[in-house]
Amino acid sequence: MPHPIIGWEHESPVPNHTFNDFLSSRDGCLFFEDLDLIQMLLGGREDQGLGRLMTSPLEIVYLPMIRQKIATLNDIFASVAAETGYAGHFHYAYASKANTSEEVVREALNAGAHYEMSSQVDTDIVMMMQNAGRLQPDRMVIANGFKPAGSGYARSLLRLKANHDNLIPVLEDLVELAPFIDSDQHFELGLRLKCYGHRNHNTKTPIDSGNSRFGMPIDDLWQAADIIAAASAPTLKLLHAMIGSQITGEHDFVSALKPAIDLYARLRQRHSQLSIFDYGGGIPAPMTLNFHFDYHEFFRQLMTAFIEICGRYDVPAPDIMGEMGRYTTTEHGAHFFKVLTVKNNGSTLPWYVIDGSIMTSFPDVWALGEHFIVLPLNHLDKPFQRVQLGGLTCDSDDVYPPKTSVSPLFLPVETRDLYIGFFCVGAYQEMLGGVRGSKHCMLPEASELVIDRNSDGQYQFRTIPGQTSNDVLRNLGYPVG
Ligand SMILES: Cc1ncc(COP(=O)(O)O)c(C=O)c1O
Repeated sequence: MPHPIIGWEHESPVPNHTFNDFLSSRDGCLFFEDLDLIQMLLGGREDQGLGRLMTSPLEIVYLPMIRQKIATLNDIFASVAAETGYAGHFHYAYASKANTSEEVVREALNAGAHYEMSSQVDTDIVMMMQNAGRLQPDRMVIANGFKPAGSGYARSLLRLKANHDNLIPVLEDLVELAPFIDSDQHFELGLRLKCYGHRNHNTKTPIDSGNSRFGMPIDDLWQAADIIAAASAPTLKLLHAMIGSQITGEHDFVSALKPAIDLYARLRQRHSQLSIFDYGGGIPAPMTLNFHFDYHEFFRQLMTAFIEICGRYDVPAPDIMGEMGRYTTTEHGAHFFKVLTVKNNGSTLPWYVIDGSIMTSFPDVWALGEHFIVLPLNHLDKPFQRVQLGGLTCDSDDVYPPKTSVSPLFLPVETRDLYIGFFCVGAYQEMLGGVRGSKHCMLPEASELVIDRNSDGQYQFRTIPGQTSNDVLRNLGYPVG
């Protein structure tokens, strides 16, 4: 297994170089598309519309990336559908749990995504987006998450239905059925199959045998489908089958889905209004420089499986839905830090101590040993050395690369005014670390720079101030003004 490539892996300076689709170095400086990153912090070169200098640590929210990701996947599906003669449509849903910031949700909806939600507060977001004219009546709202009868979430969905008819609650337990069956409103419902979890997909184990709390076993699912069919108002519209997250092999992904596709076809024979197969989340996204997933090939294999299996059961191939969280948001987020000092204290590698916390900014690093791209914003034209990063908290896990990693991290030897960026951190990290609140060792939250581009390609900037000491203290109950 090759190790995840998280940056430049040599002692020699970086020549003018393209790292990935959007990061490149020119004359010792790092560019995000054609945005000069170090100029925003140190100035001295052409201002690209910001009009002032930012301070570190700094979070970057790059909205055009969200639009690009959604358009790209829709285009890939359309081109594979044309190739394979697939008759069903693709429904791109944005899984809001990956990043629920207002600007991200707004951008995903603007780009044509449907909305996938997971909890009661999401229903308020849908209402607000609807009132603001950002969620049109034709957009589907897919309500995942546990919503037993009597819960606040179930009640909110009943209210939301009156405002937004195109709502599909996805039920994952028989105890969730009652409110939607008993309602006078005509609900289109989804049923979630229990198939989440890492299993050996090559064995003959039944798809619902994994140790997972999500979804219904097959027998319950048939029973739920029959209860819906027997009720007067609701219809069964969607089968949900999510097998896990970040499945990086196209073939593994589709083979793991095949038993659920088979179930779809058999259900469709009995329930003629069923028309959407929703593979949930799991579409991976690049967080390192040697990521590879062939989205074209994934769709080709998926459509081929549907055409073959649905043909065998003589039912029409469905519309396909995906709930893309990580794929939509990973690349739009970055986080910049200044290297404060180099500590050569006899450790295996020099410590580059940064002006923020790795641990609280990117919880997946210490919790899961996750890798993200780290590159300097300046001094790329100087020699590099292998280093380790230390955050400002007193926690021994506040380091990068993760303790279990074998990936080397090289940064410039020159550390005067050296700034570095963590890239591809836009999915989940902020939501897991919490927005606002008070964090480990009381480090205040960084300021945010929201970047967009108008149709002429000009950059537009908006800043959201970070936390002050008083914000942190107030959260903790101290009497500050
Ligand atoms: C039901 C459901 N849909 C979608 C997603 C989003 O997954 P991903 O971020 O892998 O796209 C998740 C993530 O946990 C999920 O639980």
